[in-house]
Amino acid sequence: MDEITDEAEAVRRPAGDAESSRANRMWWDRNADEYQKDHGEFLGDARFVWCPEGLDEEEARLLAPAGALAGAAVLEIGAGAAQCSRWLAAQGARPVALDLAHRQLQHALRIGDGLGGSAEVPAFPLVEADARALPFADGSFDLACSAFGALPFVADPERVLREVRRVLRPGGRWVFSVTHPLRWALPDEPGREGLAVLSSYFDRTPYVEEDAQGRTVYVEHHRTLGDRVRDVVGAGFRLVDLVEPEWPEWNQQVWGGWSPLRGRLIPGTAIFVCERD
Ligand SMILES: C[S@@+](CC[C@H](N)C(=O)[O-])C[C@H]1O[C@@H](n2cnc3c(N)ncnc32)[C@H](O)[C@@H]1O
Repeated sequence: MDEITDEAEAVRRPAGDAESSRANRMWWDRNADEYQKDHGEFLGDARFVWCPEGLDEEEARLLAPAGALAGAAVLEIGAGAAQCSRWLAAQGARPVALDLAHRQLQHALRIGDGLGGSAEVPAFPLVEADARALPFADGSFDLACSAFGALPFVADPERVLREVRRVLRPGGRWVFSVTHPLRWALPDEPGREGLAVLSSYFDRTPYVEEDAQGRTVYVEHHRTLGDRVRDVVGAGFRLVDLVEPEWPEWNQQVWGGWSPLRGRLIPGTAIFVCERD
């Protein structure tokens, strides 16, 4: 859960698929500048950071072994300013960076200095679309990835997973990170107050922010760990690993509810490594 827009009020209540998508498009358009200002340096312009713990694909190699990305067609979902895609392009992959929010993709253009590319980072397409309906033909990609993009925000994550499976070729790999489901039972605070269980882990009621007029301006959806596994398997993937990155000594940053204090005690991120047969 990220910063609240002006005078927004947080509640737990149901929120449908269309309502969630509409609110999040608006929220990410409005908050993209602040998000990139606050987190851009940590993310790096051409790094592939999976999570606030700082796990980097350069070291983790969850998508493909070193050297195996050259020529691979990779779809990045909820790409934001496309930092991960930029790293993929520099490895010789052929990424496509997709995001719902126009303003996030404008930051991709800003960082990349337009669409021209460079000797170090070849050009790649940016696509403004909703992950719930991917505008690509079946079997278009070898790999797909998402670092906290789309999945935490949609009411029907299995729909997104089915779409990802459709656009992947047989044998394709799909790796995505989300907030660790355990975090939902605790307040989203980086200090000691964020270490007490205050609500039920089993309560799937969405987290919603409303503005002064009662309009929905932000939504996040909770899935338990078991729900996420069932979504993955139900969409036709094989789950080959579930990575819970530990907080490294070097990382002293606080990012929303993520902090060294909490990171040493409880997981903050879950990364699902899936394959399509
Ligand atoms: C937390 S940001 C992550 C961005 C990037 N991966 C990063 O690590 O900085 C979440 C991104 O998901 C995008 N997003 C939210 N819902 C989406 C949807 N339904 N389809 C595509 N993108 C979506 C948002 O616009 C936002 O850019």
